[in-house]
Amino acid sequence: MSAFPDAVRNAWHLVALSRDLGPGQVRKVMLCDTPLALFRTADGVGALVDRCPHRNYPLSEGRLRDGALECPYHGWRFATDGTCVEVPGCALAAGDGQRLSAQALRVVERHGGIFVALSDKAPAEPPLPPDFGNPQLDHFWWQQGTWQGRAFDAVENVMDPFHTGHLHHGFIRRRDKRRKVQLVVASHGDSLAMTIHQDAPDHGIMSRVLERERTRSVSTYYPPCTVQARWEGEKRLTLCVTAIFTPATAGSFTPFARFSTPKGLAPGWLKQAAIRLFLDPVVAQDRRALAKQHAVMEHFGHPRFATGPGDLLGDRLYRLWKGERLEPGEDPPVAAEL
Ligand code: FES
Ligand SMILES: [Fe+2]
Repeated sequence: MSAFPDAVRNAWHLVALSRDLGPGQVRKVMLCDTPLALFRTADGVGALVDRCPHRNYPLSEGRLRDGALECPYHGWRFATDGTCVEVPGCALAAGDGQRLSAQALRVVERHGGIFVALSDKAPAEPPLPPDFGNPQLDHFWWQQGTWQGRAFDAVENVMDPFHTGHLHHGFIRRRDKRRKVQLVVASHGDSLAMTIHQDAPDHGIMSRVLERERTRSVSTYYPPCTVQARWEGEKRLTLCVTAIFTPATAGSFTPFARFSTPKGLAPGWLKQAAIRLFLDPVVAQDRRALAKQHAVMEHFGHPRFATGPGDLLGDRLYRLWKGERLEPGEDPPVAAEL
């Protein structure tokens, strides 16, 4: 049985950044426990299940030759659509190309990301969150390996503001100097948003350096694997971070983040350098925490979570992850100190 709900298996997933798959390159990626061979030819990107149809050699260990992926074992070659275009030493009969084809998946490239659909049930296009390709904004991508833990727990981590002052003490917020905030949770049927209203930026060093003003921030979960956080000042957006947690296996995921900021304030490269400076330590803290959490759940064989007074999202994230819809509506505001 798959460790993933149908809603996850049937979605589009970001599996790699375009910049990490140059012309003529082949890469192996894991997606929902399925190994894939990704490769780029002049025709575009191909995504084949990483199993040669002939004798099941891993195709990701092959190389590109004449615009097709060549299996290292007997040299069969496959086009981006999976068609077998060559069996060395033999002539292919009519129909052999299809009969001997590798299993090809739908793949599209959008805004510097390579998206793959494991299932025919995925929609025609990957749904993208707001501003993902907005030309009015500067964008840059961040990616750092595959992490230990469940993709779902990573979604919950970024939707949860209460760990930011504790685990990330000093960087984002401070546990000794909390700010009074109002938290408002809104269900939109197929997404869930938490808005944090506050009068001033957080006390952490990251906010003090990067933000001049802040009146609210909104984190929205777009199931199954995307969370977008938007920080807004009096008049406009100051920063938008789209985090995507692609399930690799039941116990690992590949995180991607896309940073979007309004053009004009500072050159894009400077904003990128400043964000990265603060991002690296914060990301390392989350990475360690998710790995430790996962090790404990593995030890006990399953997760078992208590719902505290700050866990305002309850089981709604999990219901969306499983493909359920939520009753639209807004919760009453909750006062807290973050
Ligand atoms: S196993 Fe791939 S060509 Fe034979
Ligand atoms: Fe965090």
